[in-house]
Amino acid sequence: MPSSAQKSGIGANVARIDGRQKVMGTARYASDVSVASPVFAYLVISPIARGRITAIDDRAARAVAGFLDLLTHENVGERVKGGKTFSAGGYAGTSIQPLASDRIQHAGQITAILLADSFEAAREAAHRLQIAYAAETPSAGFDSPGAETVAAKTASKTHEDPETGDAGTAFEAAAVKIDQSYSTPTQHHNPIELFTTTCAWDSDRLTIWEGSQNVYGYQNGIAQQLGIEPEKIRVISPFIGGAFGSRGSLTQRTALIAFAARRLGRPVKLVATRDQGFTIATYRAETRHHIRLGADRDGKLLSLSHEGWEVTSRPDPYMVAGTSSSTRLYACANVASKVSIVHADRCTPGFMRSPPEVPYIFALESAMDELAVELAMDPVELRRRNDTMKEPIKGLPFTSRALMPCFDAAAKAFGWEKRNPKPGSMRDGDWIIGWGCASTLYPTVMGPAAARVVLSPQGLVKVQTAAHDIGTGAYTVIGQTAADRLGLSLEQITVELGDTELPPAPVAGGSNTTASVCNVVAKACEEIRAKLVAAAVTPQGPLFGADPAAIKLSDGALLAPDGRKEPLMKAIARASNGAIEAYAENIPHGVKPNAMANLYRGLQALAGGADLKDRIQFAFGAEFVELRINRYTREIRCPRVVGAFAAGRVVNPRTAKSQLMGGLIWGLSSALHEATEIDRRSARFYNADLASYLIPVNADIEQVEVIVLPETDDQVNELGIKGLGELGNVGTNAAVANAVYHATGVRIRDLPVRLEKLLAAPAI
Ligand code: MOS
Repeated sequence: MPSSAQKSGIGANVARIDGRQKVMGTARYASDVSVASPVFAYLVISPIARGRITAIDDRAARAVAGFLDLLTHENVGERVKGGKTFSAGGYAGTSIQPLASDRIQHAGQITAILLADSFEAAREAAHRLQIAYAAETPSAGFDSPGAETVAAKTASKTHEDPETGDAGTAFEAAAVKIDQSYSTPTQHHNPIELFTTTCAWDSDRLTIWEGSQNVYGYQNGIAQQLGIEPEKIRVISPFIGGAFGSRGSLTQRTALIAFAARRLGRPVKLVATRDQGFTIATYRAETRHHIRLGADRDGKLLSLSHEGWEVTSRPDPYMVAGTSSSTRLYACANVASKVSIVHADRCTPGFMRSPPEVPYIFALESAMDELAVELAMDPVELRRRNDTMKEPIKGLPFTSRALMPCFDAAAKAFGWEKRNPKPGSMRDGDWIIGWGCASTLYPTVMGPAAARVVLSPQGLVKVQTAAHDIGTGAYTVIGQTAADRLGLSLEQITVELGDTELPPAPVAGGSNTTASVCNVVAKACEEIRAKLVAAAVTPQGPLFGADPAAIKLSDGALLAPDGRKEPLMKAIARASNGAIEAYAENIPHGVKPNAMANLYRGLQALAGGADLKDRIQFAFGAEFVELRINRYTREIRCPRVVGAFAAGRVVNPRTAKSQLMGGLIWGLSSALHEATEIDRRSARFYNADLASYLIPVNADIEQVEVIVLPETDDQVNELGIKGLGELGNVGTNAAVANAVYHATGVRIRDLPVRLEKLLAAPAI
C-alpha cells in the first residue's frame, strides 16, 4: 500500500484540493462577496491622455433615480494620498493618483466615481455626467515627440547594467557577427475576473474584498493612502480569477472605494468594466532591443551586448530590465548591457507573467538563432557550446543548472534529429513546416514568510498563511507539505490563504510562493513533530530509547526505526492537553513583518535562501515549436509544442505541469496573437476588449507536451524548490519566431508574428 507521503506528500501527483469547489462554483472569489445594503460604484474614465479637467456638470447625473453621491477631484483631493510605488518602497503600481487634482496623466484615468443604489443607476449616472477637458498633445510612446528617454541607472538607484570585459572590442574582432533589433508590443493580462473592489467599514475598521496577489501589501498601502493604522484594515482574497501580475500591486481604485464607503457610511462595491481594466490596472509595456553577438567559427560567444528600451508613464520609473537574465544565460567573456526607459503619457506598466524575461529573452534567443544560421550550426549545438555552470558577469556558480539536459529531453521528444535545417525544406502539400527552439530561464526568488500549523487532538491539521493561490495550486502544494511532514493524508489538512488575519506571506509574484511558504510550513511541522516525539521517548513513553531524530511521522503514526509505532492521536494526547500549534517564520533581520510584502525589500532580501551572495539561482528549460505555414495564404498554425524544464524539487507534478503548459500556451498567444494597439495621436488603447485583443481559442492550440526533469538542488533552500510558474512562457516567443524563419526564410523581429508580416515575403 502506498504510504501517506506517497499519496499526499511532497512530490505526490494529486489533483488540486480546491478543484471541486471551483468546478462546482462554490469557491467564493472576492468579487462574489455580498454585503448588506451595498452601494454600487461606477467609474468614469478620461478620453484624453494629457491635460486638465475644466468643468464638471453633474446635474443630469444627480437626477438619476437611485443616485447617491459623486466623487471627483473637487471633493476628494488630498484626502486620499497617492500610493507609494514598489520601486519607491511602497505597494502601489503607480504614483498617479486620480481625483487628487484636475490633472490628467493618461487616457483611461479615473475622473469620477458615481455611487448609487444599483449598478444600473450608477452606470446611468456615469453616462450622464458631463466633464469638459482642456487637452494637450500627448506622447504615446516610442518615437513620440515629447517622450523622454532616461537611462535606467539614472532613473533608479538600485539598477545595475550587467557588464564584464570589453564587449565592443571583442565584437569588432569576432569572426561571426549578429547585429539586430527586436521589439515586443504592449500586452494586457485580461484576467477573466474583472477588477472589482468591495469595502465595508465597521466603525474605524475597514474590510476590503479584492482579488489580490499581495494582501499584506494592500493592507500596508491602503493604510498609507488613508492615513490609518494597517492593523485596522483587513484584506480578503481567498480565490483569484486570474492575476498574472495584474493584482500584484495596489491600484488606485481601492483607496477611493474605501474613501467612498466611509463617506457614505455604507459598504461600496465597484465592478470595473473590461475596457476600464486596460487603464486602471497595469500592463506589459512595449520594448525595443538592440543585440550584438560576436562569435568564433566554432560558435563560441566572444561578445554579447544587449541594449533595451521600455515605455513607462510620465512620473514612474517602472522597468523590467531583463538584462539581469539575458546577460547570464550563456558563457561569454565580454558582456555589455544598458536599459533605458521612455517616459510617455501613459498609465504605468507593471508586472505581467515573467516580466523581465519575456521581452528580453525573446530578443536574445532570436539573435542566437540568427547566429546559428550564420554559422550553419544546429541551434541546440550552439547553446551547448555556450553552456556554463557559472554566470559570466561575476563568475558566480549556479546552484544547479540543467539547461542542456532540458534541450536533450525536449529535442528527443520532439524528434529534432529529423529536422532539415534548410528553410522551406520541410513540406506537407501547401503547408511549409518550420521547427524552432529556444532556451527558457527564470530566477528563483523567495520572500519572507510565516505560517501557523495547528494539529487538533483528532489528528486534523489547519495550515494558515496569508499566501495566495492565483490559480497555480498553492492550496494544494502547501497542504501536501503539511501532509508530508505530519504523516497524514491531504483529506486531513485544511489550508487557509489570502487573508491579512493570517500570518504574513509575500506577494504572489516572481514565482516565489511555493519556495517561500512550503519551507516555513515544513519548519512549523517539524516543531510539532519534535513535541510529539519528545513526549513519546520519555521513560514512560511508548518509544523510549529511540533516537528522536530518527522517528518519522507516517500514515497517522509515529514510527521508530526499530518498528515500534505510536498512533498519532495517542501521541497528541501524550504531548498536549489540546491542539498542538506551531508558528514558523523566515523573516530576515531588519525586515518588518508588516512591510515584508514589498517585492523589493522582501523578495530580494531572501532570494535564494538566507544570504546567497556567492551563488546564483535559476530554473531552466528548452522549448520546441512546430509551425505549419500555408504557402499561399501565409496562415500560421501551431500543431505542436514540447517543453522540458528543470526547476528543483517539484512538490506536485500535476499542478507544475499545468503551470508550464499554461505558460507554453500563453507563449504561443504572445508570439502569434497578442498586442494592445495604441492610437499614436490620442495615446489611447483602441482594442480594449476581448473581441479585438487577440488570444488563441482551443482550436488554435493542439499538442502541448510538458516534460519535467528531476533536479536536486540542495543550495537553493531547505526543500530544494525553485519557482516554475513563470518559467513556461519565456522561451516560446523566440521558439515561434525561429520556427517561422525555418519555414519561410523570413525573420520576424517584431512581435507578434502575424500572417500579414509574411505577406510581403518572397514566394515560399
Ligand atoms: Mo508575477 S508577473 O511576478 O505576478
